[in-house]
Amino acid sequence: AQAPVLAIDGPGGAGKGTVSRLIAERLGWHLLDSGALYRLTAQAAVRHAVALNDESALAQLAATLDVAFLAEQGSARVLLEGEDVSAAIRTEQAGERASQVAALPAVRGALLARQRDFQKPPGLVADGRDMGTVVFPGAALKIFLTASAEERARRRFLQLQRAGVDASLPSLLKEIETRDARDMQRAVAPLKPADDAVELDTTELAIPDVVDRIQKLLADSG
Ligand code: C5P
Repeated sequence: AQAPVLAIDGPGGAGKGTVSRLIAERLGWHLLDSGALYRLTAQAAVRHAVALNDESALAQLAATLDVAFLAEQGSARVLLEGEDVSAAIRTEQAGERASQVAALPAVRGALLARQRDFQKPPGLVADGRDMGTVVFPGAALKIFLTASAEERARRRFLQLQRAGVDASLPSLLKEIETRDARDMQRAVAPLKPADDAVELDTTELAIPDVVDRIQKLLADSG
């Protein structure tokens, strides 16, 4: 039997990243941050001066991406071609570029096998937009995490403030709405809950409560 997968999908800012990391740590499972692969593809494109609409060149980049994920206590470092790009791929601009390349079918296809390679014993927590619908349709449990756009913008704003980065709440809200729209409307693997996903609205839930709920659902599913 293949190692079990916990798929956690949803729009940006719903808390997927933090929740996925905490659950993977608690269970001792592997973690796939699939959004990072799209961010890294876009980053590699900028680095190699590949246009963000050159589908075949981008797919080629995605297929040959030289990346390393280094897990450290409480955080994770990401290397692209040996260089630490952990901070560079987290900017709003990097997210916007990632969402552009993620709309291209050949890029998604090129990243499919790479994502499935993360499925190893004892299990995998997979964080993304299409983990339950496309990449791991046989996942043991599929969660669709949401929160209102206003709340997601507010969380992002606080996160940036803590990091000492200037930000404006209204422009963050606009960016979130633009990215949601593109992710939901694209033809391939659009952002939507799998038919058998459990939807969890985190607008009024704290992270530890979300983690507890998902762990209970996972225990009940097996
Ligand atoms: O989750 P994160 O914000 O890092 O993802 C960046 C972008 O990558 C998303 O806006 C989305 O367009 C794309 N993405 C995707 N499929 C995934 C994960 C991310 O299309 N499984």
